Parts: sequence; structure tokens; C-alpha cells
Amino acid sequence: MTESIIIDCDPGVDDAAALLLAFPSTELEILGITAVAGNIPLEKTEANARFVCELAGRSDIRVLQGCGRPLLYPQRAGVTVHGEDGLGDIGLQRSSSPPAERAAIDFIINQVRAAPGEVTIAVLGPMTNIAVALAIDPGIAPLIKRIVFMGGAAFCKGNVTERAEFNFYFDPHAAQAVVASGIPMVMFGLDVTHKAIITPERTERLKRLGRIGAVAADMLTSYGAGDPCLHDPCVIAYLIEPEIFSGVEGFVEVDVQSDLAMGQSIVSVSQRELAGRTPNCLVMTDVDHDRLFALLEERYARFLAQAA
Ligand code: RIB
Ligand code: CA
Repeated sequence: MTESIIIDCDPGVDDAAALLLAFPSTELEILGITAVAGNIPLEKTEANARFVCELAGRSDIRVLQGCGRPLLYPQRAGVTVHGEDGLGDIGLQRSSSPPAERAAIDFIINQVRAAPGEVTIAVLGPMTNIAVALAIDPGIAPLIKRIVFMGGAAFCKGNVTERAEFNFYFDPHAAQAVVASGIPMVMFGLDVTHKAIITPERTERLKRLGRIGAVAADMLTSYGAGDPCLHDPCVIAYLIEPEIFSGVEGFVEVDVQSDLAMGQSIVSVSQRELAGRTPNCLVMTDVDHDRLFALLEERYARFLAQAA
């Protein structure tokens, strides 16, 4: 049974690694890719999403551009670990192709309405596009199968401030709107992604996997110098092989009030913390990282077979 997914992302090196994992995985039917501002401005994230599709020979996949800034929080420079071009500044030669259609929000709404209960949204960046789609058409919330996202830090420190992880920090109001939507969710916060470490040994193994493996290895080596965690691919890996991961049911909220803790994910797990509330999210806390990287290698190797 294939899973129909929309991948909402801000490529971003780890987003790119996640896309390359999704492309050859026949468990997934990629309905489209929607780009959002985050790591770098929208004009670069949408161009990078199109580039990664071209690189992998998947220009058949629709790329749409969405929101160019957070809902309310001031627009801030993205993170530099992704490099100026957002893909590790490794000298990638790009073709000049027209920008993607500015229709991500309508695309999300239309795809969900066309297949009620069947579309999963994999969110790899700030949640702005999803929050706007829910604001424009609140009726889609019960029609979305589930949202599997990279964001937040349930029981560990943040990576932008002491309290907040980047995707939630960049657009805390969107994150709160989505986690409060009632849509079934699976959260890949820093608690679990910090256990998926990009090591030189692992990138060396990717280099043996032809052009895609080599490009991925170079991007991840560049990115790894600043952030050695393989964040976004965890979301895609879960959709392919969920048993690699484990977690706890909890109630997730996002702090949108305080300056000091803006974007902090507050996760209630115990009966006392829940205080009668029903958990709204499966919060991932552990990963078999050897199996995760073995999956990445096995799927990247499929590009070799395609090229042969
Ligand atoms: O905190 C990590 C997240 O922020 C990842 O999605 C990375 O791509 C950046 O967007
Ligand atoms: Ca991302």
C-alpha cells in the first residue's frame, strides 16, 4: 500500500537528503513538493527543490512555492549551516529553469480535498504553508491523514535558542496553529534527530553510490561541519520503515508568548502534565541510527541501478 505524500520543505541540505531518500522509495507516492521560506529565502528554497528533482531525474514531480515569510514573527536570516546557496556551497552547476508556480497553498488544499483521508503531509521546514492552508480552508483539517514533521525539541535544548528548535523558532505561530489543528501528528524533534549523526565514515560510504551519493556526501560533509544531525531524512525514513524509530504519546504546544522561550515546544506526557487532555502527537525520542543510515545507503544506491 503506497502512501500519498506532499513534502513541504525549505531545502536546505538535510531537506535535499530527505528528498533524495523519498524519490526512489516506491512505498511513497509523491504528489508534489511545496517550498517555504526557512533556512534561506523562498526564492532559493524553491529553486533548490527544483534542482534536487532535476539532479535525481525527477523533474516529473511538481514543485510549488508557498509562503515567503513567517505568519507574524519578524523575518530573520536563515541558518548559515546550509551555505549561501542552501545546498552546502559545493559548486553545483544549475540549469536556468523558470521559478515554480506560486500555488503551494491551493495545491495542498486541492490534493487533500481530492483524496480525503489519504494524504500525508511531510513537513521538513517552518510550518507556514500548512498553517495558511488551514486558515484558508479549515475544512481540510479532518481530511488530512496525518502530518509527520521535523520540528521542536520535546525534552532537550533547542538549536537556535536554549529553548527553541529552528523550524518552530522561525514561525512559532504557524507551528502552534498546526499542532492545535487536531490532525494526527508524528513529531521528529531534536530529541531523536540529534541521535542521527552524520559521520565521515557514513559520508564516505555514500560517495561509493554514484553521482547522487557523491553529491549527497559532499552536501552533508559541508553541512555537517555546522550541524552534524540528519534531521529531515528521519521524517521520510519513518514513512518507509517506521520501526526504526520509537517514541511516546504526548500533548504538544508551542510557546508564542514569551520572548525568552518563543518557539519552545512544550510536551506533556504524564497524567499530571496532561491534566485530562488527550495526547495530540506521537513524539519520537529514539532511532536505530545504523538502520537509518543503512536505509539511506540502500535507497541512494537505487539511483545507481537506474543509471545502469
Ligand atoms: O532544526 C533543524 C531543522 O531546521 C531542519 O529542518 C533544517 O533543515 C532546518 O530547516
Ligand atoms: Ca528543513
